[in-house]
Amino acid sequence: MIRKMTLADLDRITEMEQILLTSPWPRSAFEYELTGNPFADLRVYEKDGKIIGYVDWWIMYDRAEIATIGVLEEYRRSGYAQEMMDLLVNDAREKDCENVTLEVRVSNLPAIRFYEKNGFIKVNVRKNYYDDNGEDAWLMVKPL
Ligand SMILES: CC(C)(COP(=O)(O)OP(=O)(O)OC[C@H]1O[C@@H](n2cnc3c(N)ncnc32)[C@H](O)[C@@H]1OP(=O)(O)O)[C@@H](O)C(=O)NCCC(=O)NCCS
Repeated sequence: MIRKMTLADLDRITEMEQILLTSPWPRSAFEYELTGNPFADLRVYEKDGKIIGYVDWWIMYDRAEIATIGVLEEYRRSGYAQEMMDLLVNDAREKDCENVTLEVRVSNLPAIRFYEKNGFIKVNVRKNYYDDNGEDAWLMVKPL
């Protein structure tokens, strides 16, 4: 089941973020997303009462952006991220966005495959995008 993220989820989300991502967002960033960012929509994927994934996307007028998406390793390749992607793409379509964009580490092949399966195209490289190791990011776009 996919449901809205709440402040009560943030201890667990912050822990998962540390496990899932190389440059994890701090709790304060999620708090801001939930309480101070009018463009943000945050959801969790809950299975048997346990959060196994989450997504944060922004709808900014005519474009949508995926801020973060992740699924715990032991639950991968079961279609959970796909369900979250379908939800956000439908939302972007309903709100008349022209495209969905995201940035992804050039080394993150599983995520790149996932995005390509969903119609995202690599359109540009953002040089030295990540602070931790200076890695480049692909800017990927899915036209709607
Ligand atoms: C990217 C990520 C969210 C995918 O989650 P997931 O739940 O495993 O994805 P799904 O099961 O919904 O995959 C849907 C399709 O995407 C593609 N895909 C997903 N993971 C893939 C992989 N490791 N290799 C190749 N293709 C993959 C496949 O086409 C898959 O369909 P299939 O399993 O029927 O072949 C997950 O790997 C993850 O959480 N990674 C760590 C966090 C991260 O890097 N997030 C992105 C930051 S930009």
